Amino acid sequence: MIKKGIILAGGHGTRMSPLTKAVNKQLLPIYDKPLIYYPLSVLMLAGIKDILIIVNKGQLHQFRKVLSDGSRFGVKIRYLEQTYPRGLPDAFILGEKFIGKDNVSLILGDNFFYAQSLTKKLKDCIKLSSGCKVLLHPVNSPELYGVAVINKKKKVLQLKEKPKQSKSNLAVTGLYFFDNKVVEYSKSLKPSKRKEIEIIDLLNKYRKKNKLKAEFLGRGGAWLDTGSISDFYNTSSFVSALENRQGLKIACLEEIAFNYNWINKKQIVDAIKFYGNCLYSQYLKKILR
Ligand code: G1P
Repeated sequence: MIKKGIILAGGHGTRMSPLTKAVNKQLLPIYDKPLIYYPLSVLMLAGIKDILIIVNKGQLHQFRKVLSDGSRFGVKIRYLEQTYPRGLPDAFILGEKFIGKDNVSLILGDNFFYAQSLTKKLKDCIKLSSGCKVLLHPVNSPELYGVAVINKKKKVLQLKEKPKQSKSNLAVTGLYFFDNKVVEYSKSLKPSKRKEIEIIDLLNKYRKKNKLKAEFLGRGGAWLDTGSISDFYNTSSFVSALENRQGLKIACLEEIAFNYNWINKKQIVDAIKFYGNCLYSQYLKKILR
């Protein structure tokens, strides 16, 4: 069972400069809330309450202002600063103390997931006791991602990072579930040509030991990237279209916590005070009713 989760929210967001000169990318808006709300909501929907957020050096106070220690929405958030981005598996080296003897999940701070039975899928994924699990989803441009080749039985035969030409359109999304060996394996990784330790090399260690399983978001699900400015606009439009049509918010952290009985009505009232007079607060008022 996985009870701990890490959100990797470091990186310089260079592709989005000058927007990211003063503000961390994960705090920029996806429609009506900061990007970080979306990956955080995924961990919460999975039932994970013990969370470590890894941020860039010097940007911790920005995150604290918005998320604080997580108690507003019933979770416990700890933070760690990363001096410079050394690659995704660095999350497990930096997070060694946080992980302790437990299994752990990792979500990238700029990944957006939306799917009908997402919660059920997540609850299945956190049952992992050994090995690792990845979520695959088809994309139009596999060359931008880690890519998996699978056989008819959905066994992963090959994993490659940003292959120039790919036999598969299945991207490895930025949501991973690992057993405790992940710390030891991450420490043994050698930097790649881009001078970073690579998540694909880590996943390949598990794959070669027959310890890697693939899960699928499913055709009706959406996995959106928020790496570039146009991605931000596309994802914002997606959220805006769904929220305005249905009157239901995606990634309202207090709503998830309330539905899971992690917070009570009084805490929703406090959250409304925290947010002030805005659409998000109006939505929270609706929940109170
Ligand atoms: C990273 C991973 C890649 C994965 C992607 C998902 O890519 O290296 O395997 O498919 O995240 O967002 P990067 O963001 O470093 O380009």
